[in-house]
Amino acid sequence: MKDLIEKAAKIIDEAKEVLVFTGAGISTESGIPDFRSPGGLWSKYDPQDFYFDRFISNEKAREKYWQMSTEAYATMKDARPNPAHLAIKCLEDRGKLLALVTQNIDGLHHKAGNSPDKIIEIHGTALSVSCLNCRKPYGRDEIEERLRSGVKVPYCDECGGILKPDTVSFGQSMPEDKMQRALECAARCDACVVAGSSLVVYPAASIPAQAAQSGAKLIIVNRDPTPLDNYATVVIHGSLSEVLGPILCP
Ligand code: APR
Repeated sequence: MKDLIEKAAKIIDEAKEVLVFTGAGISTESGIPDFRSPGGLWSKYDPQDFYFDRFISNEKAREKYWQMSTEAYATMKDARPNPAHLAIKCLEDRGKLLALVTQNIDGLHHKAGNSPDKIIEIHGTALSVSCLNCRKPYGRDEIEERLRSGVKVPYCDECGGILKPDTVSFGQSMPEDKMQRALECAARCDACVVAGSSLVVYPAASIPAQAAQSGAKLIIVNRDPTPLDNYATVVIHGSLSEVLGPILCP
């Protein structure tokens, strides 16, 4: 493991523009469960229930969605960045961070102090809510207050439209501008670090794939194997809070 960490740290040391791509695995040591590990969210809830078309067409599905989303938000609200998040902040301080593309909706990269203009949240954020009809914005805590007071499914005060957290659900279109920017950075970076993702969800996983295809050195740090391991220069199966610091911020 030590020689792999040294090899990865050398790649970062020699790199000028690093793209970091994170998944739920970087936040588990901050107390937020991931999706596909044992005990993760998809072992408690059926992902089928969270497809966008079911959410918009079925009030019962919206009720179930808000129950899961409220439970997940409770773990995110007061979560603190862990050493893995702070290692990416350090990489930015070293002037090497081209972009931080995250699938996570927990806001921990902002809490860790990375510059907002470097962070690309391709699956959106759970920290705010919008009306799907008139786009009126709401604070997440305001809506959580309504749910706590007994509202089962919140609707827009302005137009009565359906409210949803500003996340991207399965079947919901990805933010074109963010995907475009992420893919441009993937084509340009000279090293790409994947931190805590199973790399099974597309189009998100096409970002590190694009980086590798464009000639960047790919470093994957993940507890479990991923489908892109064979394309990586270095693969480290270990705990991110222990491994990412010595690689990004030796
Ligand atoms: N250290 C290293 N790796 C970890 C740690 C840890 N402390 N904790 C978890 N992992 C790894 C797991 O081995 C797993 O492979 O992180 C990975 C997390 O994978 P997923 O749970 O599939 O999360 P992610 O890849 O972010 O999922 C992508 O799927 O459900 C959708 O929209 C959701 O953005 C999410 C997308």
